[in-house]
Amino acid sequence: MSNVSNAEKLEQAYASVSDTYRGLTEDLYGACRQMRETTPVYEGDYIAKFLGVPTNAGLQAGTRPTYAVFKYQDVMNVLKDAKRFTSSFILEGMGKVWDGLMILGMDGEAHRHVRALLQPAFMPDNVNKWRPKIDRVVREDFVLPMLPKKKADLMDMGLHFPVRVMYALVGFPENDADEYNQYAAWALSMLAANQLDKAKAEEGRKIAAQSVKSLYDALMVQVKQRRAEGAKGDDLISRLINAEYEGHKLDDHEVATFARSLLPAAGETTTRTFSAAMTFLLTVPGLVERVRSDRTLVPKLIDEAVRFEPSSTFKVRETAEDVEIGGVTIPKGSFVQCMVASANRDPSVFENPDVFDIDRRQKPSFGFGFGPHMCIGQFVAKLELLCAINALLDLCPNLRLDPEQPSPRIEGAHLRGAKSVHVIWD
Ligand code: HEM
Repeated sequence: MSNVSNAEKLEQAYASVSDTYRGLTEDLYGACRQMRETTPVYEGDYIAKFLGVPTNAGLQAGTRPTYAVFKYQDVMNVLKDAKRFTSSFILEGMGKVWDGLMILGMDGEAHRHVRALLQPAFMPDNVNKWRPKIDRVVREDFVLPMLPKKKADLMDMGLHFPVRVMYALVGFPENDADEYNQYAAWALSMLAANQLDKAKAEEGRKIAAQSVKSLYDALMVQVKQRRAEGAKGDDLISRLINAEYEGHKLDDHEVATFARSLLPAAGETTTRTFSAAMTFLLTVPGLVERVRSDRTLVPKLIDEAVRFEPSSTFKVRETAEDVEIGGVTIPKGSFVQCMVASANRDPSVFENPDVFDIDRRQKPSFGFGFGPHMCIGQFVAKLELLCAINALLDLCPNLRLDPEQPSPRIEGAHLRGAKSVHVIWD
């Protein structure tokens, strides 16, 4: 029997993912700027060579001709055209391990159909019904308990609340307060197979396979129970059981595998974005005072954080035919690395792109992706972040950085975020 607590397991899993995706982080945005100006369409595996991190091409990296694009318009053109730039390679290597409804790696009609089935559960009207639940979890389980200490590392809360919220929304019974940490640790371990180092990849694949199975079993119990009860609740599993598109409904296996895929998609992405939003809120001069007294600015803070520091710095696609980008011919069957971190700071679209400015005119950026695979959970993520930021501003008077601790620093070549955000309040 291991005596490592579930919370520690989650912390270890998160640290291990951060290590895998940290890479060579020095001046990521400077490197992107230089490429955008000199070589906006790069022939070669930019990510492996210059960032030193695995990609979502995962196990197939190195098996195809590879290119990277750096300009806003090129990244947008690739991400919006899922016919010529496909995603199914994501499942090629991991397919057997994942087995089931992995929407991220689906293409064409199959993707469109599944997306249409799932989308309604995630649209703002439906998502907003979850607000009281999200507010309760964030306030009662996280912010209120830490108040007496008058100081905290906000990432203690930031690591845990997104998975705790998803666990509540999925509809797990809430009588075991720590169990969600075990599920969250499994969810993160599902990413462990994606390693540059071959020996580590082998070990990671074993861990991933076990985690995938354990999570599936836990979810399946819930799915069967919900279905037996008539799926009348407002939880995500019930919503998915009731979803229907063109006469099709999801079976238990599909509901369980889709819900399983949500736990890693929803957890650490939101953790990292929370770390960025809090870092800017507390370090940009005058910003916390403005936002505290005008809460309509919270969504702008979140949008600008997602532009300025996307939690994932690139997305990869495969060409389904020969294509031409910026005068470079890219043969069919190549990987195209879309450098989101570069596109989000392209000065031809964003004025003073390296300045964090919540007042800038809103334009699409790519932190939630773009086109047919754009994040289906973005309204959930934004609502969670809104609830968390508002709770902190409401309940922690004069919230500010702790002058006795190092300032937060956002790092990581692929998955970015601040490890800690030390704060105090009155
Ligand atoms: C701040 C938090 C989040 C960020 C930054 C984020 C980012 C992204 C991005 C960039 C993609 C596109 C991937 C691609 O094009 O290959 C994506 C897809 C997806 N996200 Fe999120 N996400 C977040 C939170 C969530 C949450 C809370 C959920 C679920 C409730 C979720 C579920 C999904 C799913 C299912 C997809 C696949 C959609 C598809 O392939 O059609 N995400 N996300």
